[in-house]
Parts: sequence; C-alpha cells; structure tokens
Amino acid sequence: MNRFDPAAAINSVQQTSAERGINPSINDSATFTFDYGQTMTDTFHGETQGYYLYSRHCNPSATSLCRALAAMEGTEAAWVTGSGMSAITCALLQCLQKGDHCIASMTVYGGTFAFLNNYCKRFGIEVSFVDTSNMEEVKTACRPNTKIIYTETMSNPLLRIADIVKLRQIADTANAKLIVDNTFTPMIFSPYRLGAHVVVYSMTKFINGKNDCVAGAICSDRQFINDLIDVNNGTAMLLGPVLDSYRATSILKNLYTLHIRMQQHSRNAMYLAQKFNEIGIKANYPGLEKHTDHKIMVEQMNEGFGFGGMIAIDLKTAERANAFMELMQKKGIGFLAVSLGYFRTLFSCSGKSTSSEVPDEIQHKMGMSEGLVRYSVGLDNDIAHTFELITECLKDLKYI
Ligand SMILES: Cc1ncc(COP(=O)(O)O)c(C=O)c1O
Repeated sequence: MNRFDPAAAINSVQQTSAERGINPSINDSATFTFDYGQTMTDTFHGETQGYYLYSRHCNPSATSLCRALAAMEGTEAAWVTGSGMSAITCALLQCLQKGDHCIASMTVYGGTFAFLNNYCKRFGIEVSFVDTSNMEEVKTACRPNTKIIYTETMSNPLLRIADIVKLRQIADTANAKLIVDNTFTPMIFSPYRLGAHVVVYSMTKFINGKNDCVAGAICSDRQFINDLIDVNNGTAMLLGPVLDSYRATSILKNLYTLHIRMQQHSRNAMYLAQKFNEIGIKANYPGLEKHTDHKIMVEQMNEGFGFGGMIAIDLKTAERANAFMELMQKKGIGFLAVSLGYFRTLFSCSGKSTSSEVPDEIQHKMGMSEGLVRYSVGLDNDIAHTFELITECLKDLKYI
C-alpha cells in the first residue's frame, strides 16, 4: 500500500476569492478585459501569467478546480471538461492520428468502447481490444505504430484491477503513452504516481458525488495539458468541451469531502459484499481476499480509502435482475439508475445498460453475465438495515 494522501494534497492548495472569501468566487464571464492591447496579444500567445482571455481557453473558476485536481493526482497540471466522455475523447485524440494504433482494455465503459470501436475508424485509427490483466496479451498486441495503451483502473462492471506499474513498463517498451480512467477509484488509486502518463475522470461520479451535473477531468504533466489547450492544435481548445464556471465551483467544494465519502462508500460496499457471500449470492468485490486482483489492489492502492464503492452480483438472467432491482427500488434501497458515485445506492443491469454498446460476444469473452447487477453503494448510515431489506427482496422473489 502507498502512503500518499490525496486528501492532504488537496488541502495543501490554499485558495480564496479575491476578497478573501474562503471559497474561490464563481467567475461567470465569458470574456476578460485588458488595460493594454499588447497584454491581450501576449495572453493569446500564452506569454503572460495570471491573465485570462476567454472562458473556452481558461476560466478562473476552472483553474481553481484544476489546481486541486492536479494536487490530488500528483500531476503538474489538470484540465476540466463538460463530461467524462469529452475528457476521454480529447485525451485520446490529442495522442492519436491517422495510421496510429491504440490498445484498449476490452472491459472499458460502453461509451469509451463505442468511441474506440466505431468512431475512431473515421480517422483511420486502429484499435485492438485486449484483456489488460493479461500482460502477454498486451505485449503481443503492441505494434510499431502503437501510440496508446488505455485502461480503467477498476474495470466496469467486472471490477478487475489494472496493474498500472506493469502496463507502464509495456508502454515504455512500445514507446506509447499509458492513459488510465480512474473514475471508479479516485483517491484509492493515484495512477499517475504509479506510472500512467495521463489520468482521466468522469467527475460526474464519485468526485462530484451529487449526481447534479456531468463533468470530466484530464490530469497530466504540464506539457501534455499545454498541448491539449494549444490555440492552434489543442484538442480540448479546438473541440471546446468546457466546464461551466458554476459547475467548476460546486465540484471544487464537493472535492473537499471526497475522502470521507470514499471511506464510507468502501465500508458499506465491503459489508454488502461479505453479507452477499454469506447468504450464497456470489459478490464480486476487489476488497475480498478471494477476488482475482485483490493482491494487485493492495500493492498499488493508497492507504485509508478502502476498496471502493462498487460491487457486482450475478443473478444469471436479465429478467431475474430486473425483478430484483424493481423490488429494491420499491423498498427504498436506492434507485434503478445507471451511473455511480451518488450518496444513495444506484443499481443497474450492466449488460443491458452501461455496457450495452459492447457486443454480446465481447461481453461473453469478458465473463459478463446478462444478469449482472452492478451496485454503486451509497453512504447509508445503517448498512446492516439496508442488507436486511435486500435479503427481503431476495426472499420475496425466492432467489434464496
Ligand atoms: C468509467 C467511466 N468512464 C467514463 C464515463 C463517461 O463519463 P460521462 O458520463 O461523465 O461523460 C463513465 C460513465 O458512466 C464511466 O463509467
């Protein structure tokens, strides 16, 4: 386990408003004024410090959030975007061009899979989907034109853990960049410190934790972020998926409670995973010693945030899964809804929702059952009572 403390790192960034308010102000201007024309020109060319030109380029509220995210990740810089998908697509397109090859985990989020599998073809970019837990498979997939190895730290929805350290070694040999989506495990893993070149997030999930907006982030070294926002060639600058300043400000405030939320999500998920197994329902959770990747997780995780808030159980068929989820919602256990990282528990049948872009044969190869129910476990104060209600549902449906 690593002793890096991302929560302390965020706190070390002391940010106030211009009037010394303890929260940075919301700066909701699209454009900014200058005393001198020359300063405007210099700012446009990135040759000034502390000036803003136009909010698609940069906004003070976004900058405050970027500083805190960079501290959390241990990167030199960060960039925030209007969705997790735009963070992913901008990071990828910044590195890939016609004729390039990308190796991606076959268990990536459905939207990422669709982008890589379908959309990238338009640009003549080749993608190989592999089992990124199998290092030989990753090595074999490398080609002279491989530019990217892409994975999620904790895969969706099977909760496999990527060995970032080993993947970085393969990326180095192939002269490629390693991009890691850490959406499921903020603070628990620090992929950049483990060797990833770029870390992307859907902040819609745990980072914001309120399910009241969609947002994304890209964390990396200064050069990568500067290239991304270059006015002539930067993907983020030219595609323009900016995060609104109101949202940037509210996400920043939520970031300061992320460590406490991750601890409680993890505690509750561990409790449910253990209890499911006790009653004979196999729960997939990397916090359990018998999970295939438990050892890698323990080696590479940061101490003190637990094993995450996601668990998956297999109810074999989509019909059984649906009946169970509908009943859980009726009993107030949480919501039958996609997404994750909310303070209430969310559950969905992955094969028929968030992974539905992944073709059936790949779902099968991934080992994903059509009756897999994925839980994003909430912050319930009395998780034992929640489990009693879940048990009632299983009994009512005669699943146990
Ligand atoms: C792991 C992962 N990455 C990225 C995304 C996309 O993020 P967004 O919906 O914020 O665009 C999701 C969305 O569910 C996700 O689960």
